[in-house]
Amino acid sequence: MEGIIIPRVTLEEIKELQEIGRATFSETFAHLNSQEDMQEYLKQSFSIEKLTDELTNQDSLIYFAVADEKIIGYLKINLRQAQTEKQNNDALEIERIYVLKEFHGLKVGQLLYQKALDLAYEIRAPYVWLGVWEENYRAIKFYEKNGFTVFGKHPFKLGQDEQTDLLMKKIVTVVSESKTAW
Ligand SMILES: CC(C)(COP(=O)(O)OP(=O)(O)OC[C@H]1O[C@@H](n2cnc3c(N)ncnc32)[C@H](O)[C@@H]1OP(=O)(O)O)[C@@H](O)C(=O)NCCC(=O)NCCS
Repeated sequence: MEGIIIPRVTLEEIKELQEIGRATFSETFAHLNSQEDMQEYLKQSFSIEKLTDELTNQDSLIYFAVADEKIIGYLKINLRQAQTEKQNNDALEIERIYVLKEFHGLKVGQLLYQKALDLAYEIRAPYVWLGVWEENYRAIKFYEKNGFTVFGKHPFKLGQDEQTDLLMKKIVTVVSESKTAW
C-alpha cells in the first residue's frame, strides 16, 4: 500500500487515538472474549485520562498510520521507565501495534514496525521487546517473521479474565560505526 504516512500523535488528536484504539482492539479480540470483559477493558484502557497520561509521558511515543487522510492504524512505543515491565532501561517496548482489519495484509503493520525498529537503531537500544496474547496467532507469526523469539510470559488481565502474554524480543546489535540488526 502506497502513500502511508506515520506522524507522531499529539494531544489535540486524543479523540482520534481513542477511536482507533477502541476500534482496532475490539475488532481483534471482541469475538474471543465476553462482552462484559471487553466493555470494561475498552472503557478503562482507552479513557481520556489514561490516554492523556500516555500522550504526555515523555518516554512514550505514539504514531498513527494515515492513508488518504484516514487513520488506519497506530503504534505505541515505550522507553525507559514507561516500559510496562521491568526490562533493560535502554530497551524499546512495542506496547501496541494495531491496523484496522480491512487494511490487514497490506504491510501497514510492517511500516509501523519499521518505525519502531528505526527508533531502536537511533537510540541504540540493545533489543526491542513486546508482549502478545498467546492465542493471537497472526501477530505471533508477524513477529516471528520479523526475527522475534519468545523469552518469557506474563499474566494479562482483560476485564475479569486472566490471560497469558508471551514476551518476545529481537536483539538489535550495533556493529562498529554502522548499525545492523541480526
Ligand atoms: C499484526 C498486524 C499489526 C500485522 O500487520 P499487517 O499490516 O497485516 O502486516 P502484513 O501485511 O505484513 O501481514 C502479516 C501477515 O498476515 C497475513 N494477513 C493479514 N491479514 C490478512 C488478510 N486480511 N488476508 C490475508 N492475509 C492476511 C499476511 O498474509 C501476512 O503474512 P505474510 O507476511 O506471510 O504474507 C495486524 O495484523 C494487526 O493489526 N492485527 C490486529 C492487532 C494485533 O493483533 N496487534 C498485535 C497485538 S500484540
